[in-house]
Amino acid sequence: MSHAQDITAGLLPLPQQIRSAKHESGPTARGATRVQWTNEQDPLVQAYLERAFGTLDCGEILITVDQVAIDSLPQADMLEGYELELSPQQIHLKADSTWGALHGLTTLKQLIYENTLPRQVHIVDQPRFPWRGLMLDVTRHFIPLPQLLEVVDGLQLLKLNVLHLHLSDDQGFRFGSEAFPKLVSDEHYAKDELRHLVAYAADRGIRVIPEIDVPGHVNHWLLAYPEWGSEQAKPSQRFGVHPGCLDPTQESVYQALETLFAEVAEVFPDRFVHVGGDEVNPKWWQRAEHIQAFIAEHDLKDARGLQNYFLCRLQISLAALNKQIIGWDEVLHEQMPDCLVQNWRGATTRDRALAVPRPCIVSAPYYLDLHFPADIHYRFDPTATQQDWLRMEDDLATDLRLEHIAEALSWTHQWRRGAIALDDSEPGAPVLGGEACQWAELVDGPTLPMRLWSRLPAVAERLWSNANCRDVTDFYRRLAGVLGHPELCSDGHQHTCLQQLGLTDQQIQAVQYLEPTKWYSRLLGAQALQARMQGSEMPQARPYTVATPLNKVVDYLMPESFASRGLKDAVIGEHLDELALLCEGAVAEPWPTGDDDVVEGLKANLAAIRLYQQTLAGATALDEALAGLRTHYRPYGEYMPALIPFLLDHLQTRR
Ligand code: ACM
Repeated sequence: MSHAQDITAGLLPLPQQIRSAKHESGPTARGATRVQWTNEQDPLVQAYLERAFGTLDCGEILITVDQVAIDSLPQADMLEGYELELSPQQIHLKADSTWGALHGLTTLKQLIYENTLPRQVHIVDQPRFPWRGLMLDVTRHFIPLPQLLEVVDGLQLLKLNVLHLHLSDDQGFRFGSEAFPKLVSDEHYAKDELRHLVAYAADRGIRVIPEIDVPGHVNHWLLAYPEWGSEQAKPSQRFGVHPGCLDPTQESVYQALETLFAEVAEVFPDRFVHVGGDEVNPKWWQRAEHIQAFIAEHDLKDARGLQNYFLCRLQISLAALNKQIIGWDEVLHEQMPDCLVQNWRGATTRDRALAVPRPCIVSAPYYLDLHFPADIHYRFDPTATQQDWLRMEDDLATDLRLEHIAEALSWTHQWRRGAIALDDSEPGAPVLGGEACQWAELVDGPTLPMRLWSRLPAVAERLWSNANCRDVTDFYRRLAGVLGHPELCSDGHQHTCLQQLGLTDQQIQAVQYLEPTKWYSRLLGAQALQARMQGSEMPQARPYTVATPLNKVVDYLMPESFASRGLKDAVIGEHLDELALLCEGAVAEPWPTGDDDVVEGLKANLAAIRLYQQTLAGATALDEALAGLRTHYRPYGEYMPALIPFLLDHLQTRR
């Protein structure tokens, strides 16, 4: 495709308006970069210009920034719109604020193709939602600081503006508290490191929001400070919800939290602090006589009421620090304090929050740890009606790629009970936007890039671009463009990781046609998955703990096989001969021990290719081939033979 036809090839999220793109005109030589400022020079914009464009000749760039951010930080209500006009003579970037101008330069960067900029294009752009984030769990596995800085660079390229760090959980505590050193895990961020991260992100228009998850998810805390709980916590390396929770009847707990959050507030300047609140197991509270007496004395009714009492106390402490709190869905309560709600349990809890009314950040359809393909995240709009959202959720059970876990998807139906319908005449609080969630039970530093960048762009576009930007084919076309940027490209890194596992180049190519199994099937393992499908849970049967190394082929795979998707539009016949040879060769070579399923997955792809070829040659009937392909398409341990759905698609079109 020529450059002239392809102005949008690297544009993701798609800008709101692309006006007067002269598609017939190709690139133009622009000469050495000369920056002119209409108003005062903007140091952050100037610094980004130097970083992003280096030695590229951009010609004359005229920049107009109305409000230059000097000593001010990105905020929840910052202005982010910009206008970018390229003509053969000049580039003109106009923005109300530094933050918009930074986005304008990102767009300019995404317009570079084969080291040149287009001749003529006029873009007028602004985000659909003010809150566009990534929640990164840095607790289940630690992500070193230099890598967090790289994550920030990737967020900037996707015009995301919030990095929410999940800093504490049952398995660890990553905030380098000086007041409570016993809480702090060996691998943690010192306060100065976090200050550096905050400043680095702010220079890129990104807010960093800390989450300290209380009163549940605190097993690690209670090992250090047993006096903060009502029972003895046990050392544990397992994943899954732990029973331990803070004892909300104790004044010393509130005093400790006040001190801790004062430290947090001093490091993170954003107005918002996340206090967790999810998955509080009420068992300890129900078993303690003094807690039951407290509930009765304060007329709190039950554990929910007690959690709300706890949240109200916390909100008062944080308001005194000039902070507003965010909590996960479970903070919803008739008497809840002023609070943003981060939605993770679906449309019904979103609408309950909006009806309270509490503003919402939608995350439920954006869980990247489920290993879903990008198109699934892409289709969920944060403001979809409850009815449409639930229908889309139900449709997932009929998606071939999720067939192996379809039964488990109804696990979320527990949250549909007691759903309320929003009254159209009283729309309630606003949806502020959303955050993709990267939980890290099965992700660590080396595996993060493959997990993150393959699907995060889908969420970024959903949150920035116009609601009617829904063409998934076009999304994947532009995704290929944007994944070419060094900030998001994980090809070289993945190759190195797989090489270190002992794979040959041929094997590395062949495993591009495999995917990890979906939903929580890896994390739960076969036994616990079965139990959850039947509505219960057996955490003791889970295969992974914090001590399990993430060093199998499956850990380094893309959650979605772009290689298989790429075959869709190619001349498939020729490619399949090559691919069959590749798989045969790869299978025949020695593999790292203890990971036999990977070979079984490749053999399934190979068997499917053979069936496909026999069908084209007229040696196998179409219906028989389709049935055969479906039989081969199943989990092999933690691997899915991802080529097969695409072969099925191709064959089905021949019907
Ligand atoms: C959550 O996924 N427990 C917020």
